[in-house]
Amino acid sequence: MPIVKRALSVVSGGVLLLLGGCALEGPQSTFSTVGYVAKKQLDLFMLTYWLGLIVFIGVAAVLAYTLWRYRQKPDDDGSLPPQIHGNVPVEIGLTVLPVIFLVIIAVPTVRLILELDQRAEQRDATELEVIVTGYQWWWSFEYPELGITTANELHLPAGERVNLRLRSADVIHSFWAPRIAGKKDLIPNQDNEMWLIADEPGSYLGQCAELCLGAHAYMRFRVIVDDEESFAAWTEAFREAETQRVATDPLVSRGAQLFKSKGCAGCHAIAGVSTNRVGPDLTNFGLRTSVAAGVLENTPENLARWLRDPHEVKPGNYMPALWSEGDPSAEEEIAALVAYLESLGETEERLAGGTYGDR
Ligand code: CUA
Repeated sequence: MPIVKRALSVVSGGVLLLLGGCALEGPQSTFSTVGYVAKKQLDLFMLTYWLGLIVFIGVAAVLAYTLWRYRQKPDDDGSLPPQIHGNVPVEIGLTVLPVIFLVIIAVPTVRLILELDQRAEQRDATELEVIVTGYQWWWSFEYPELGITTANELHLPAGERVNLRLRSADVIHSFWAPRIAGKKDLIPNQDNEMWLIADEPGSYLGQCAELCLGAHAYMRFRVIVDDEESFAAWTEAFREAETQRVATDPLVSRGAQLFKSKGCAGCHAIAGVSTNRVGPDLTNFGLRTSVAAGVLENTPENLARWLRDPHEVKPGNYMPALWSEGDPSAEEEIAALVAYLESLGETEERLAGGTYGDR
C-alpha cells in the first residue's frame, strides 16, 4: 500500500506542477486574443473543446455506471454473465452520434479555412502589405509601398487588415504572433501569404514556431500595434531617415566611423550608410524596443552586452564578437557604437512624444 500511496502523491504532485504552467492570460496565450483571425480560431477551438467535453463526460459516465453496476458481488459464483451480441439501437446510435458531432465541427472549420485562404488571395489595393522574410535567426519586415525595411519589430496600424507575404532566406521558419493570428510557415522558394487584423494598440510577442536549428528558440519578434498617429509618426521617421541623421555628439560620430571600420557595415544596412542585408537592417535602430531579435530590451547596457559577446546573449547566432578578449580599446569602442546606434531615429521631438512601443 505505501508504494501505491507514494506513487499517487508523485503523480498528483506532477499534475499540480504541470497545471502551474497554465495561464490563460500569458503574453503568448492564444486564449487572450487581440485580433480577428486569432479570435475566430479561438472560437473554433472552444466549439471543439465543449463538444469534446460533452463526449468525455458521456463516455466517463457510462463507464463509471458500468463499473459500479456490474462490480463483483460477495455471492458471485464466478460464472460468466449472459453474453449479448448486437444491439441495433445502440449500434445505430453510436454510429449516428459521432457523425453529428463531426459535422458540427467540420462545417465551421471548413468555412473558416476557406475564409482565411480566400481573403489572403483577394487583396484590396488600399491594404498595407508587408514582406516578412525569415533568416537564421531573425526577421526582416519590408513595407514595399512605404519604402521601409526594418527587422524584428513589425509595426502595424490598429484595426486595419494587413497582408503578409511570407518568405524564407534559408530554412523553414514559422511566423507566429499567438494573440493576433495562427501560425504560417515561411518556406524557401514557396511564397506563402496570410492576413491579420490587430485590434488594440500595444506590443505583442511573436516567436518562430518551426525548428530552424541553432538559435531557433531566440528567434523572437514583436508586433507593435500603433494607433493611426503613432503609425504615421513611425513611417515618417523612416522617410526622414533616407540619409540617417547623425547627432553632433563626438561619441556618436566616433561610433558612426567605427560602424564602417569594424565591419558592422559589411552585414547591416543603415539608410544612407550601407546597403548590406546579411543581418538585420539597423535604420532607425534607436526606435526599436528590443535587441537581438527580441531577446533583450533595447537599453544602452543591453546593447553593449550584446556587442561585447553576442553568443553569451544568443547562443549559436551568426554575429561575431568584434573584440578579442582583453582588447584594451573594446569598452571605449563599444560605448561609441552604442551611442551611435541608439541615436538613430531618436530626435528630440520623438523622444518627448514617447510613442514607440514600450519605451
Ligand atoms: Cu526560425 Cu525557428
